[in-house]
Amino acid sequence: MLSLQNTYSLDEIVAFDERIKSQLSIANDIEYFCEPKLDGLALELVYENGILCAAVTRGDGLIGEDVTANILTIKAIPLRLRSSPQVVPSLAEIRGELIMHKADFLELNQWQEENGLQPFANPRNAAAGSVRQLDPKVTAERSLRFYAYGTGSISGVEFKSQEEIECKFAEWGLPTLGVSKFPGGLSEFQEKGLKLIHNRQKILYHPLAIRLENIGASLRYYEFIDSIRHSLPFEIDGVVIKVNSLELQSELGLIARSPRWATAAKFKPEQSQTKVLDIVVNVGRTGALTPVAILKPVRVGGVTVSHATLHNQQEIDRKDIRIGDTVIIQRAGDVIPEVVESIPGERQK
Ligand code: IVH
Repeated sequence: MLSLQNTYSLDEIVAFDERIKSQLSIANDIEYFCEPKLDGLALELVYENGILCAAVTRGDGLIGEDVTANILTIKAIPLRLRSSPQVVPSLAEIRGELIMHKADFLELNQWQEENGLQPFANPRNAAAGSVRQLDPKVTAERSLRFYAYGTGSISGVEFKSQEEIECKFAEWGLPTLGVSKFPGGLSEFQEKGLKLIHNRQKILYHPLAIRLENIGASLRYYEFIDSIRHSLPFEIDGVVIKVNSLELQSELGLIARSPRWATAAKFKPEQSQTKVLDIVVNVGRTGALTPVAILKPVRVGGVTVSHATLHNQQEIDRKDIRIGDTVIIQRAGDVIPEVVESIPGERQK
């Protein structure tokens, strides 16, 4: 399985488009397929004649871990592909991301703490930890979700575009991020806004993936998704912009272990500045001591934060954090806030 090259700014995304055009010797607009970048565990599912036979993690890209026994217990992953009226391929390697929704993560951590177990740092670690279990019964108890976004080998079905692949996935009954079918393109997609209905059993949301006519529209998509990312039921750390045509994808090929036809356009971590009112020590159920900064409440990443972890004494010493300091805080993995650094220049002389 491959990895993606990252871009961190609008300029870098434009440069990505320019590189593609120059390599293909094309002056016209390139069509892109854009979707959120999920922050979880990359997984490949192998379906033989429509039946789920194996599941492997990405590992180092070449060799992954066989997690079949555990994956078979996850309700969100279909054991067989829906076949009628469409044809199911004799072999389908389906790639996607295994994640834990934010609400399920918070519930799991509460349970961990109540039972004297170490809470997970973020939903990604919780998802990964739930799959790397010796006992599949533990995996079965965790609320895990899977969203499919790509293929490995597929026999017997021909695709022309990334959009076609993801529409077919949905027909097969695989969960996807939802392909927008609005005739009005990006403006209608943005106008209708995000219609999230949070209901623990069912989370309905606006389709999140869309085919766009050029890089300009893809930049607007990136900014729009960044602006609504906190209303999503799961964490994302950017958007993935993929050349839509599979013919152009294969012409572009790979560089090292990354495709030249896609980029992970990352969001800036959300940070805010506030004051440390006090430093207290939290005693966990297991007796573990964790220093915590009590903060002047501040909005960061869509929520109000009034305390943040300082991890341990070494971290406090390294970052030189003192009561009364002005500090930068950020939400690591979007959920647990942490103190990034102190701004000693703001210290009262
Ligand atoms: S497409 C490179 N689409 O990001 C092969 N990847 O750094 C094409 N990821 O290993 C990957 N959301 O685990 C793709 N919507 C998405 C994704 C996505 C998350 C992960 C994936 C990959 C990593 C690359």
